[in-house]
Amino acid sequence: MVLATEARGRGLGPDAARTLITYLCKTLGWRRVTVDPSATNVRAVHAWEKAGFQRMAGEGEILAMEYRPAP
Ligand SMILES: CC(C)(COP(=O)(O)OP(=O)(O)OC[C@H]1O[C@@H](n2cnc3c(N)ncnc32)[C@H](O)[C@@H]1OP(=O)(O)O)[C@@H](O)C(=O)NCCC(=O)NCCS
Repeated sequence: MVLATEARGRGLGPDAARTLITYLCKTLGWRRVTVDPSATNVRAVHAWEKAGFQRMAGEGEILAMEYRPAP
């Protein structure tokens, strides 16, 4: 996800991520959604966490994160 520069820092990223995972999980029935931000991209990692993603094992500079809807 890449927001326009002027749209960053206002909570729109997590809001868009929540909308996307709601569509993927409730409409399409996905049971798992993953993202792989750079571990050094603190704002992105925080944004994904705000949307409900959890950190998994990392590999080098890449941090694997996942979202699983409640059963
Ligand atoms: C990453 C991105 C999608 C996040 O969306 P956003 O709307 O800017 O995110 P938010 O404004 O909710 O900020 C996320 C959190 O990180 C925090 N944060 C922002 N910059 C930070 C920094 N430099 N260090 C630590 N935390 C930071 C914010 O305070 C916020 O937490 P809070 O709500 O608890 O205060 C957006 O900034 C973006 O498009 N960035 C450029 C592209 C990119 O890096 N994409 C990610 C690829 S995985």
